[in-house]
Amino acid sequence: MPVILEARDLVKRYPLGEGEVTALAGVSLTVERGEFLAIMGASGSGKSTMLQLLGGLDRPTSGEVVIDGVNISAMDEEERTLTRRDRTGFVFQYFNLIGLLSVAENVGLPFLIAGEALAEHRARIDELLAMVGLSAKADHRPDQLSAGEQQRVALARALATGPAILLADEPTGNLDFTTGTEILDLLWDSADRLGQTIVLVTHDARAAAYADRVLVVRDGQVRDEIALGRRREHDAGPLIRRLAALGL
Ligand SMILES: Nc1ncnc2c1ncn2[C@@H]1O[C@H](COP(=O)(O)OP(=O)(O)OP(=O)(O)O)[C@@H](O)[C@H]1O
Ligand SMILES: [Mg+2]
Repeated sequence: MPVILEARDLVKRYPLGEGEVTALAGVSLTVERGEFLAIMGASGSGKSTMLQLLGGLDRPTSGEVVIDGVNISAMDEEERTLTRRDRTGFVFQYFNLIGLLSVAENVGLPFLIAGEALAEHRARIDELLAMVGLSAKADHRPDQLSAGEQQRVALARALATGPAILLADEPTGNLDFTTGTEILDLLWDSADRLGQTIVLVTHDARAAAYADRVLVVRDGQVRDEIALGRRREHDAGPLIRRLAALGL
């Protein structure tokens, strides 16, 4: 499969007091179209920083990111914002829904931001709501939903424009086991049925076990890579044994 996302020698330093902290110390990776990649690592290892750079939310100190053939590192803020809007979808740990908007309006937010009328996208919004099992709650407000339902809205919103890449940062981090499983199953279905490319950041082996391939990050570098392949049984046992064999 062709490469849809490429990172070349990404370095990210943040200012800290009088000095600086190196969050990423040279990360290179490629993601193929349709691939479901997980990025695992301990707290502070650089996972969120990596995802922000891969999705163009922030710029690297040095290095390059190429999304779907477009080098976003050379872009100014405005160009990067447009590329992000058109080619990426984000899901975060805290759903980041807009409380004043209905569920359907939250799902259609990418269209509203693009200055388009929701009415033009009614069919697409209905399709997304059906996909995440929330057709009956289209007119609810986010605070009338459970945490799992709110994350399903966030996922539908992230998929609304048919992004080249879906980037998810600990999407199950704020959910109980069963609700987390629902989100992971939806992610996996979108990879398997829609061919959605996914990059999932997690510290949880159970979540990472859904991926086709797992990168292990430590101290801002990719230290190991574990190929799992696409399968319907998302048993974390084999991944946990592979991680243990690597001393993790
Ligand atoms: N905006 C910032 N300013 C200063 N330092 C930062 C900033 N963001 C991250 N860091 C530092 O960079 C390193 C990597 O942070 P990052 O948030 O990427 O880790 P993480 O793997 O996502 O951790 P967690 O699992 O806790 O979410 C940490 O040492 C962190 O303190
Ligand atoms: Mg993080």
